[in-house]
Amino acid sequence: MIGLVSAMPEEMQSLLNELQISKTLEKGKRTYYQGTIFNQDVVLVFSRWGKVAAAATVTQLINSFAISEIIFSGVAGAIDSKLNIGDIVLGTELIQHDIDASPLYPSLEIPLLGITSFKTKNTTNLEIATQQFLKNYNYYFNKKTLENFDINKTPKLEKGTIVSGDQFVNSSEKIKEIQKLVPQSLCVEMEGAAVAQVCYEYEIPFQIIRIISDKADDNSHIDFPKFANEVAGKYTLGILEKYLS
Ligand code: ADE
Repeated sequence: MIGLVSAMPEEMQSLLNELQISKTLEKGKRTYYQGTIFNQDVVLVFSRWGKVAAAATVTQLINSFAISEIIFSGVAGAIDSKLNIGDIVLGTELIQHDIDASPLYPSLEIPLLGITSFKTKNTTNLEIATQQFLKNYNYYFNKKTLENFDINKTPKLEKGTIVSGDQFVNSSEKIKEIQKLVPQSLCVEMEGAAVAQVCYEYEIPFQIIRIISDKADDNSHIDFPKFANEVAGKYTLGILEKYLS
């Protein structure tokens, strides 16, 4: 059974609309929806925000259902300037940019695990699904919506490093700090590396899709909710339909 974890209620709703629910479990202020979507057995859950919330959600998910893999989806702020709003990042490694137990351990290293980054499983099939989604991009969105977000060409897919921390990033100073710590960062969010850590510890294969909702700058608090409301859900549904079918 595949665990589908969304960081955005809007995404969660678009998946729920397609899910044939067989059972629900209420635990720890979360609802876990078990059922079938695009002919696959899945459990769907909203992670809530931040590393603790996401780790708690995923731990309960793994301990309550026979989960064979987890796919996490949500939005993120761009760190690498080649990324624009609407672009998609498939994570290959996840790093917690705010963990620092120095001088006991090197900063960024997860105490007792002895590692700094968590690798995702092979993303080839998710990459193919994302490319198929992007090929049909204009079918999902009308021109006006795209203009509203300054999306004037088909968004691109990038693979690479996603960093997570318990902070909404909205300044160029903070972006520079993150780049100094993790020069290869593509984007920043608040859950992925926590979910990756739990999956590592429980030996569950993990993948992550992040859609760029903002540029982690002074405008990010305006761009982020607008993007989440109008666009993010269609991306996740479109990509997962291609991946699961
Ligand atoms: N998720 C989406 N945008 C973000 C940002 N700017 N900082 C942290 N998490 C985010």
